[in-house]
Amino acid sequence: MPLVRTAELVRPGHGVAAFNVITLEHAEAIVAAAEETGRPVICQISQNAVRFHGGRLGPIAAATRAVAEGSAARVALHLDHVTDEDLMHQAADHGFGSVMYDGSEHDYDENVARTAAASAWAREHGLWLEAELGEVGGKDGAHAPGVRTDPGEAAAFVAATGVDALAVAVGSSHAMTERTAALDLDLIARLRDAVPVPLVLHGSSGVPDDELRRAVGQGMTKINIGTALNIAFTGAVRANLDRGVDPRRYLAPARDAMREQVAHLLEVIAPRPAE
Ligand code: G3H
Ligand code: ZN
Repeated sequence: MPLVRTAELVRPGHGVAAFNVITLEHAEAIVAAAEETGRPVICQISQNAVRFHGGRLGPIAAATRAVAEGSAARVALHLDHVTDEDLMHQAADHGFGSVMYDGSEHDYDENVARTAAASAWAREHGLWLEAELGEVGGKDGAHAPGVRTDPGEAAAFVAATGVDALAVAVGSSHAMTERTAALDLDLIARLRDAVPVPLVLHGSSGVPDDELRRAVGQGMTKINIGTALNIAFTGAVRANLDRGVDPRRYLAPARDAMREQVAHLLEVIAPRPAE
């Protein structure tokens, strides 16, 4: 079916999972799991993934879109962790329903100014804009779970920028390969009460299943997951590398392993309501 808009999938009080796409196999695995579990999903492509593909957004966006539109799953397309405004401005031409503008490396005033400009641009182009306040560490691979977003500052930031969703720092960290992150669940509830837009959890691969369930229960809405798929992918590739030179011999099990991981996480994050 045609892509859906991110805004349709992100509803306060419900969890929706957003998975990072790096290769065609990631897109196929995510969409297959969404179809099989009957859950909607967000496929997100990061600025770093675009760099991996030679700086060109078109090919990986078109491939992801074609996989989604060839399925019965409800899939939205999101451009993730963008710091390059030129790249952000290409999103509207490639089927994206949303963008995360990441000004978190800047000080508060600079982050407000840049995010407000991104927000105005997104509104003009019918896109939903996510921003980040309180840098979620680990974007360069190292863990830095100590940072926290202040609820009062978060409310002021949303009012000053007009963003549609806010990524907050509550104890998770990017690129964790062990699921040992402890979230500050009281802080999530205080942020939910203070901030009038959906909250986004980054670095969710390092968060245990029960903690993810509790985070959604406390008001986290969009749950971003990347590394968990790469752990599944790379583990399966390693286990199948001696099966000859045809890449399908290890890419097929890698894609299956990602599909199983996505299906599991969809059940955790977006449980089917009791009948
Ligand atoms: O924006 C993407 C996510 O925050 C992914 O983080 O790779 O640690 O799961 P992760
Ligand atoms: Zn992130």
